[in-house]
Amino acid sequence: MHLPSLFSQRFAEAIAQCSFASQLESPQQFSDMIRPAANPKFGDYQANFAMPIGKLVEGLNPRQVAEQVLQQIDLNDRCEAPEIAGPGFINLKLSQPFLEQTMQQMISDDRCLVQKTAAPKKILIDYSSPNVAKPMHVGHIRTTVIGYCLAQTLRFLGHDVVTDNHLGDWGTQFGIIIYGYKHFGDAETVAQDPVPELAKLYRIVHHLMGYQKAKASLETLAAEIETLKTQHQAAAAEAEVAEGKEAKKKRKSAEALRRKVQATEASLQSAQESIAATEADPVMSQRAEQHPDIGTAVLMETSKLHAGDAKNQELWEEFLPHCKDEINRVYARLNVDFDHTLGESFYHPMLAGLVDDLIQQGLATESDGAICVFLEQFDSPMIIRKRDGAFLYATTDLATLKYRQDTFQPDEVLYVVDARQGEHFQKLFVVADTLKLTDAKLVHVSFGTVLGEDGKPMKTRSGSLIGLESLIDDAVDAAYQVVCDPDRVANFDPPMESTEQKAIAEAVGVGAIKYADLSHDRTSDYKFSLTKMVQLTGNTAAYAQYSYARASSILRVVGVDEAEVQQRIESNGLTITEPAERALAIELLRFEEALQNVYQDYAPNQLVDYVYSTAEAFAKFNNQCHVKNAPSQEIQDTRLGLVVLTGRVLKQALTLLGINVVPRM
Ligand code: ARG
Repeated sequence: MHLPSLFSQRFAEAIAQCSFASQLESPQQFSDMIRPAANPKFGDYQANFAMPIGKLVEGLNPRQVAEQVLQQIDLNDRCEAPEIAGPGFINLKLSQPFLEQTMQQMISDDRCLVQKTAAPKKILIDYSSPNVAKPMHVGHIRTTVIGYCLAQTLRFLGHDVVTDNHLGDWGTQFGIIIYGYKHFGDAETVAQDPVPELAKLYRIVHHLMGYQKAKASLETLAAEIETLKTQHQAAAAEAEVAEGKEAKKKRKSAEALRRKVQATEASLQSAQESIAATEADPVMSQRAEQHPDIGTAVLMETSKLHAGDAKNQELWEEFLPHCKDEINRVYARLNVDFDHTLGESFYHPMLAGLVDDLIQQGLATESDGAICVFLEQFDSPMIIRKRDGAFLYATTDLATLKYRQDTFQPDEVLYVVDARQGEHFQKLFVVADTLKLTDAKLVHVSFGTVLGEDGKPMKTRSGSLIGLESLIDDAVDAAYQVVCDPDRVANFDPPMESTEQKAIAEAVGVGAIKYADLSHDRTSDYKFSLTKMVQLTGNTAAYAQYSYARASSILRVVGVDEAEVQQRIESNGLTITEPAERALAIELLRFEEALQNVYQDYAPNQLVDYVYSTAEAFAKFNNQCHVKNAPSQEIQDTRLGLVVLTGRVLKQALTLLGINVVPRM
């Protein structure tokens, strides 16, 4: 049930009947202006079109516009008589009989009145897509959790969703472990305990590459600081002598330069620190001395793999399954899955042909030995083959898009990828359009960074990114401390065994990570705070899961089961009497609105907000309306009906967020 679209349709018809209709270009544009009321005092929905129409139409003020429209519309089957407020807002209040009938219908509908779309789209979602060869880290949370939620939600709305994990299984990261294996590895250890051994090799080589890079950057950074300082001094001097507006402008640019100096000094300092740390470690510093050109050497190993070198190919085939096992363990823990896992390596055989085709069609041209697609919209071209013959991330993405078009014919392709890849996708979409690779709508569903409590990108003390698995473990531990606190657990009857406690902690801990992530506007950065995210109150997974458990426990206390309640409501209907019952019922029938909002902006936080407001409406209802000691059987049945529906809506919504519920906690 999506009331705003129903109202919008009725208003469009009504507007078309009004004397001023011919003066409006598109009445629909106005009838769409239906919003949930900000304040329940004014009703449940509000139509805001009278003001903009009043501006366009000669001789009528907005109130008169609203009056005319209301004369043409009949909403009796849903609402009480609409009211005009202030400058011309139309307030709509759902009628009691409509609410009661809707709740009665809802209890017989296993989709909680969420309709399947009449126009299903084929939507391909590219998400998670980690670079394997190193363990998954905190940076992989967002894409995995947001992508999974979008897939579940769009599927539930009736779209044909295909999910694809575009694994980075072919890039430099394999050059890194191949180099690591050849120089620091040990066949026996890799065979016995591959995952940690490969992770260790990755860390060593990555560290040494970082060391070499830091050393190489020292001079450039120092020179850059000098130049910036001179520029800053000059700008500051100019600001001194300038006047008025000009002075303000100059001060601003001097300030910007001062910040650049600071940032570059910070980079220099961190390079110096990482060098010092390596040199303080005798093993590492010896390795660094013995592998002075490790960066180039790693690239060599990668190109050898791509060129089909037998040894590197063999090692890649040996390592890849272990890398996959490693990420699959994390996916199992997070309860996420994919229809397809077509990694970058899958597309490698298609790249040479693709580039040749584009050259032949005159769409790609050679420049300085490299093959490029030039674009009007961008200063720099998209390079698709380097001078040395190597293909790039972008080349693979073009081949992937072509393959997806041929294989799935999607209407939309969603790339759930870090905002820092924004430019890559902007270019990719323009190139795809220029080359007519696909008819699909292409969307970069971008997201911000996960920050530590200090507001900086989350890292371990040694500077590496925090492993995802250990983060999940920590969240589950933190959840255990809160929800399985001995004083709390002691109240349960029958007693809560340790297996049940562990299952609850797992659901709450994993749920906490997902919920906290999904609750933020995806485009902004957010601070990761374990302590906050496992709390039982506030906008947290635990609060939502607890609300669900509470709904189940009310049924247990009254001694009825869901089927029985459903049957009573189906035969006798409901009688809503209290404001808290009414508020809860309205919240419940808005489920589909929340899901459509998720699709509209690819914004899971819309669903989280909905879960939270439903849980809050349920808490108020619980405070104000006794169920066990209800004043009459009729009222008790109504309340039980609302409890059952709340449980179902919360469970369904949490499932779409990728979060499990437990029957008691
Ligand atoms: N593997 C890439 C990374 O970790 C993300 C891939 C996203 N998907 C894509 N089709 N480019 O940065």
